[in-house]
Amino acid sequence: MKKNIALIPGDGIGPEIMAEAKKVLDAVARRFSHEFSYTQIIAGGCAIDQFQNPLPKKSLDDCLSSDAVLLASVGGPKWDSVDASIRPEKALLGLRSGLGTYANLRPAKIFPQLASSCPLKNEIVKDSIDILIVRELTGGIYFGKRGRSPDGKEAFDTEIYSDWEIERILKVGFESSLKRRKKLCLVDKANILESSRLWREIAKKMSPDYPDVELSFMYVDNAAMQLVRNPSQFDVIVTSNMFGDILSDEASQITGSIGMLPSASLGESGPALFEPIHGSAPDIAGKGCANPLAMILSCAMLLRYGFDMDEEADLIENSVEKILDEGYRTFDIAGLEADELRAKGKLVGTVQMGDLVVSQILDK
Ligand code: IPM
Ligand code: MG
Repeated sequence: MKKNIALIPGDGIGPEIMAEAKKVLDAVARRFSHEFSYTQIIAGGCAIDQFQNPLPKKSLDDCLSSDAVLLASVGGPKWDSVDASIRPEKALLGLRSGLGTYANLRPAKIFPQLASSCPLKNEIVKDSIDILIVRELTGGIYFGKRGRSPDGKEAFDTEIYSDWEIERILKVGFESSLKRRKKLCLVDKANILESSRLWREIAKKMSPDYPDVELSFMYVDNAAMQLVRNPSQFDVIVTSNMFGDILSDEASQITGSIGMLPSASLGESGPALFEPIHGSAPDIAGKGCANPLAMILSCAMLLRYGFDMDEEADLIENSVEKILDEGYRTFDIAGLEADELRAKGKLVGTVQMGDLVVSQILDK
């Protein structure tokens, strides 16, 4: 198959991990006789430096005319003081709304090989953790009306959702849970927010269409607590943009492997967007030690959800597992064994980790 992939390396460790992702995609193309071409896209802080605009029109247009978009990470302290209207994060929001990718899938799971880096006690994680957060991504308070009073002493942001926006994201929630353990939990604040009450109303209306899915409801404060108290109870969580932002950080952290987690942002049609959950990690940028695996696993999601290439996606995921089975680790997932691994030559940097995955892919 011939496909064009838009690559957004962005800022911080972005370019380093993107280089590894591209190597992996090339290896998959070779193995399966696909033809992948790439369009390099500038967005984020580096675009502010060059064009005073985090997402120049040409960047968005190039993404829109690609078959899928792969993004590494944007932002960093260098741009902390730029005007709010051109912050690097604006590139992300512009991409999400420009591409119409309203459904953000954020898996949070423990890799058995890395179970010891989970910060929770063994007895809490009795049945492991394998959660999929389905976060609404193009609506709610992120995109609602905001402003200041004329004297600047009052400010407001608006949480606003229409029935069709809620319905389409809930559909993704129901359908994702059908492919998993068939449990869907709608997380909201329906004891306070009218918008949450509308989410619940619509979820209850849709539920009979999915008789195999067990639907439950949970207030967001309780969900934040339950995620550390008993994370194994969750299968799929569906929630609004803001709550999903917060809970997905929490969920990824309790797995202990934030450097391992990919995400997919899908729309109705048009190219979807794939990116690791972690940020641009400016503190380790340029040191060659960043973990490229979340970025590489984002390529697997791209192939699976973007191009329906399940076999290719499986191969990437299995290759990563194999490398972990063989004991290779970057420093962030080395845990207490870092010194021992270093002595054995198994503590590897960004490029070596990418090479290991590539040789695994070409080997099978
Ligand atoms: C995320 C990030 C973004 C968000 C920021 C960088 C705008 O936190 O993707 O979770 O809030 O959505
Ligand atoms: Mg976030």
